[in-house]
Amino acid sequence: MIGNVLQWTPHQRELDDLELLSGGFIDGAGDQTGFTRPGDQGGRPALTLALSAEAADQVAGSDGELELLDPEGVPLARVHIDGTYPMPDGRTGVVGGVEPLGHHEFGPFRRCYRRPDGDGGDTLAVAVTAPLSRAAVDDIVRLAAESGRRPLLVACVGSGTPEGVSGPGLIRATLAAAPLIPDAEVVAAPVARRDPSGPDTDADRALRDHVVGSWSTADVHHPQLGGELPPAVQAVVDQERPPRHRRGLVVFFTGLSGSGKSTIARALVDGLLERGDRTVTSLDGDVVRHHLSKGLGFGRADRETNIARIGWVSAEISRHHGVAICSPIAPFDSTRQQVRQMVAEAGGGFVLVHVATPLAECERRDRKGLYAKARRGEIPDFTGISSPYEEPTDATVRIDTTGRDLDGCVDEVLAALRTEGWLA
Ligand code: ADX
Repeated sequence: MIGNVLQWTPHQRELDDLELLSGGFIDGAGDQTGFTRPGDQGGRPALTLALSAEAADQVAGSDGELELLDPEGVPLARVHIDGTYPMPDGRTGVVGGVEPLGHHEFGPFRRCYRRPDGDGGDTLAVAVTAPLSRAAVDDIVRLAAESGRRPLLVACVGSGTPEGVSGPGLIRATLAAAPLIPDAEVVAAPVARRDPSGPDTDADRALRDHVVGSWSTADVHHPQLGGELPPAVQAVVDQERPPRHRRGLVVFFTGLSGSGKSTIARALVDGLLERGDRTVTSLDGDVVRHHLSKGLGFGRADRETNIARIGWVSAEISRHHGVAICSPIAPFDSTRQQVRQMVAEAGGGFVLVHVATPLAECERRDRKGLYAKARRGEIPDFTGISSPYEEPTDATVRIDTTGRDLDGCVDEVLAALRTEGWLA
C-alpha cells in the first residue's frame, strides 16, 4: 500500500491479459472472452485479478484503485475497481477498467508482439497454437493463394499456451515455418488460457479468435494440429523438448520427520552422482532451514513459505535441465501442488515420492529425540503430533521403510525414474 493506493504484482496470466487490454486487442468484446465482469454483458472490457485475502482486505480500505506492478516493481497500469467477488479457491476476484501506465519492454521476441494495425483487410490470420506441420503449412499456402490474402502467422503464447513447447519456442518454430509460406509474416500475442490446468474451453477459443481475428476481416484460420513437421520446425522442437533423460527433474520426497526421506534422498543423490550423467542439487528439509529458510518457524504460513522457496529453487534448477532432490516434510497438499505447477511451468518433470513410514514407527525410531519432546509439549506444532500431515494421493512412488534396507528403497526410486524415462 502506498498512500491509499494498493500495489499488486499480477500473476503471469493476469499480466498477459493486461497486455491484451493495454495493447488494444480487446474492445467492448462482449462476454465470451472473459474480459467482462461475470453477468455484465457488453460492458467495457475489464481485467479480472485474483487477490489474496490480505490484499482483498486492503482493497476494501483503499480508494477503489489498484496499481499493477511488473515483477521488477515497475508500474504497468492502474485498475479502477468496479467490483469484487469471492472465488471458489478462497481468493477474491477484483474486476475493473484499466488505465495503462507503461508497457512491457522486455522478454524474448518482444519485437514480434505488435498491435494489429490497419483494418487487416487482406490478411489471412492464422491462429498458431502449436508448431506448424507440413500439412498445416500446405493448407496455409493454398488458402492464401485462393483468397489472395497475405498469411499472418499469429503465435498464441500467453500463459498455458502452447502445450509441449515454451512461448519463445513456439515463436521460434513459427519463424522457422514462415520461409516455407510465400509472403508470410509472424507476430505474437499473449493469449493466456483461462484455466491452464484444464482442457481448452469455449472462452479460450473465443478469446483466441477475437485476438487473432483483430488482424483480419476474414475468419481466423485454425491449422490442423499434429502430423509430421518440416525439418526446420522439427529441429526447433527437438531442441525445446529433449528426451526426458536430458530434461530437468525434481524428485520431491515428502513424509513425517524420521520417516527416512533424508536418508533415501541422500543415497539417491550419491547414486546419481556415481552415474555421472546428471547434475544434482540436494534440497534437504533440515539443511534448507539452515540456509535458504533460516529463521522460519513451523506454523502453517512459515511451512508454506519454506516449501514455496524450495519449489522456486527446484523449478529454476529444472529449467536448466538439472536434477533437484528435495526432502522436506511438506505436510500440505496444496503447497506440494504449487511446487508441481511451478516445476511444470519451468519445463521440468516432477516425481513425488511419499515416504509413508507410519507415525508409530517414526516415533519408535525418534533418532533426534524430537517426538519425545513433542509428546511432552516442549515442541509446538510438531508434524504428526500437534500439526497435521496430509497424505498425498498423487505420489509416483510410496515407500514404507519399516523393516526395509536402504538399498532396496533407493532401488525402488531409481526403478521408477527409469520406467518413467527420467534416467537413460
Ligand atoms: S516443513 O514442514 O517445512 O516441510 P522441514 O522439512 O523444513 O518441515 O523441517 C522438518 C525438520 O525440522 C524435521 O526433520 C525436524 O528435525 C525439525 N523440526 C523442528 N521442529 C519441528 C516441528 N514443529 N515439526 C516438524 N519438524 C520439526
